[in-house]
Order: sequence, then C-alpha cells, then structure tokens
Amino acid sequence: MEKIRVVLYGVGAIGSTIARLLLQKEGVEIVGAIDVDKNKVGKDLGELLGTNKHLGVTVSDDSRKLLSKACASVVIHATSSYLKDVYPQIAPLAEYGVNVISTCEELSYPYATEPELAKKLEKLGTKYAMTFLGTGINPGFLMDTLVIALTGVCQKVDSIKVDRVMNAGTRRVPFQKKVGAGLTLKEFKEKMKTKAITGHVGLEQSIGMIASALRWDLDKIIVEQVEPVVATRAVASEAIRVKKGDVAGLRQTAKGMMKRKPVIALDFQAFIGAKEEYDAITIDGVPPIHEKISPCVHGDYATAAIIVNSIPKVMNATPGLATMKDLPVISATVEDMRKYV
Ligand SMILES: NC(=O)c1ccc[n+]([C@@H]2O[C@H](COP(=O)([O-])OP(=O)(O)OC[C@H]3O[C@@H](n4cnc5c(N)ncnc54)[C@H](OP(=O)(O)O)[C@@H]3O)[C@@H](O)[C@H]2O)c1
Repeated sequence: MEKIRVVLYGVGAIGSTIARLLLQKEGVEIVGAIDVDKNKVGKDLGELLGTNKHLGVTVSDDSRKLLSKACASVVIHATSSYLKDVYPQIAPLAEYGVNVISTCEELSYPYATEPELAKKLEKLGTKYAMTFLGTGINPGFLMDTLVIALTGVCQKVDSIKVDRVMNAGTRRVPFQKKVGAGLTLKEFKEKMKTKAITGHVGLEQSIGMIASALRWDLDKIIVEQVEPVVATRAVASEAIRVKKGDVAGLRQTAKGMMKRKPVIALDFQAFIGAKEEYDAITIDGVPPIHEKISPCVHGDYATAAIIVNSIPKVMNATPGLATMKDLPVISATVEDMRKYV
C-alpha cells in the first residue's frame, strides 16, 4: 500500500501541531495545505512550521484546485468552531471522495445544534463514498467518548457528571486570551456582549452524543451563560498577570434534562492559577464509577493525537457522517499508519 496522502485545511495553531505530528509518522505523507491567511498562502509548509526543512508543500487558498490533483485519502480540517462557517469549506470536498476529519466543535455531534446540515453531510458522504468526522479532545473525547466508554461497564446509569479543570496559564497565550485572563470584570462582560469571548464550544454536542449513545430522550439541553472566574489572589502565567479581583479565566456549565431532572451535567473551567488540573467523570449507577485523570489531559497535544489516530478508523468507516460514538475505539497509531487500515 502506498503512503496515506493527507491534505491539511487550516494551518493555524492546531493545524500546525497536527502537521508536526504527521511529519514524525511513518506510512503517511502531507501532500497539500490550504489556508486563507495571506501571510501563509504561497509559503512552503516547512517554513511555516519552522522546521528549517523545505517540504515541497506550498500553502494554497484554492481547495478545489488542490484537491483535484492531490489524490488524497484524508483532509484534516482545523479552521473554525461553528458548522455554519465550516460547512461551505468541507461540503465541496466530498466530491473528491476524500475523507474529512475536522476539529470543528459543532461537527463532533452536529445533530445537537445543526441537524439540517448534519443530514446534508450524511447524504454527501454516502453519495461520494467518503466519511466526515468531527473530533478533538473536547468535544470529541474527554467529556463524551470517554464517558460513553465508561458506561459500558454499568448495569444501570442514573446520572453522569463530568468536570474538566485546566490551568490556562500552562496553555498557549491565544488560549489564555480566549478565556479572558487578565481582563477586568467590566472588560470581560463587554467582550461577552460583543462575542469576542464565546466560552467553550462543545458542551451541547458532548451531552447530545452521550444521550444518543444511551438512547436517553432528553427534554432539553441547558447551556448556562459563561461566568468569569475571578482571581482571589494575584496570579500570573509567563505572558499574563492577573490582579486580585480581575478575571483569571472562565467557567461554563451545561445540563441534559430528562423528566425535568439533570441526568448529564458538564462543568468546564479554564483559568490561570487553578490549583489542581483534572478531568473527572462520576457515574451514579450500578456500579458507581469515579474516574479522575490528574493532571488533566493537555488539549493541544491530545487534539493533534486524536485527529491523527482517527485517520485509519475514518478510512475504514462506513461512508456518511460519523461521530466518535459510532467508530471503533481509537488507539494510538505508534507503528506505520498503514498497519491500522
Ligand atoms: N474539538 C476540539 O477539542 C478542539 C481542540 C482544539 C481546537 N479546536 C478548534 O479548531 C479550530 C482551529 O483552531 P486553531 O487554534 O488552530 O485556530 P487558528 O490558530 O485561528 O487557525 C485557523 C487557521 O485556519 C485559517 N482559516 C480560517 N478560515 C479559513 C477558510 N475558510 N479556509 C482556509 N483557511 C481558513 C485561519 O486563517 P485566518 O487566521 O486568516 O482566519 C488560520 O490560519 C478552532 O475552531 C478551535 O476552537 C477544537
């Protein structure tokens, strides 16, 4: 079998991390890169990644032209969180018969907020014998797929609670800014109004995916408003100082309601100075389960990993629109990638 040919669509922070990981892998090669950023278009991917190595892959802003020649098996897409924005980017890729794996949060379980677009993607995938998948660390794994896997050992599940607490100070600076670290409360509220701060995207998708796996017919999903986490003492990362009383980050919660009771509750917190970083899953059921990963899984490394590790599973999948709950368990691809296809 020839090497698996991959095209990158979106060479930002995550796309670049994915590219660096792909370059270390055997049995897979990057044969194209797409981006709209004028500072990237026309440049060699190696230069953009700072590898000091010419890779012979020039960043293009013309996805159709590139795909018509690339003979690719997979497009790895990482541009935006919302399916309305992403749909016009990924839908035309189907006709090239190439599989699409995206970090788009809403694509992880598009039936939650964009059921019409989900149906269109299903149809396109089936028509052109390719598969769409949205995945990542969260949504895509920690607050949904891992939870679903843990319920596999339960005889009975009454309710589920998932907490993810991250010290934003150990993450890249754009992420620290994205959670509002260093702002005054007034600035934070203004940025919330203008949607410069949106909070975490994915809680509805994670709840939708868990409920679907358990065949729970939820009355509704309630996503609470994003709340600032106010620093109770001065805290700092290498790049941002937060004064006592200013915003260190944010917290967002959501619940899935069934018969007016919260049966799935998710709590996401990301702020500078978090004393303990962890991912915890508590299942009230038979047997009861309390699983805690401490420190919490590093999102950027893990997102790149799960995207790359899902390549063979997506290549082997039934055409259409896949979600993580439908695919076989994804493992690390530590050997030549072709061994997993
Ligand atoms: N599911 C998960 O767990 C997970 C984890 C990490 C990230 N994500 C999501 O993945 C997405 C990418 O993250 P990131 O940190 O890499 O963002 P980023 O640094 O902003 O990179 C996105 C890149 O895509 C480019 N782009 C935007 N629209 C495009 C289009 N229509 N066609 C081609 N290129 C386009 C951007 O160019 P411009 O800068 O010129 O717009 C930028 O170069 C975000 O939505 C993020 O929330 C999800």
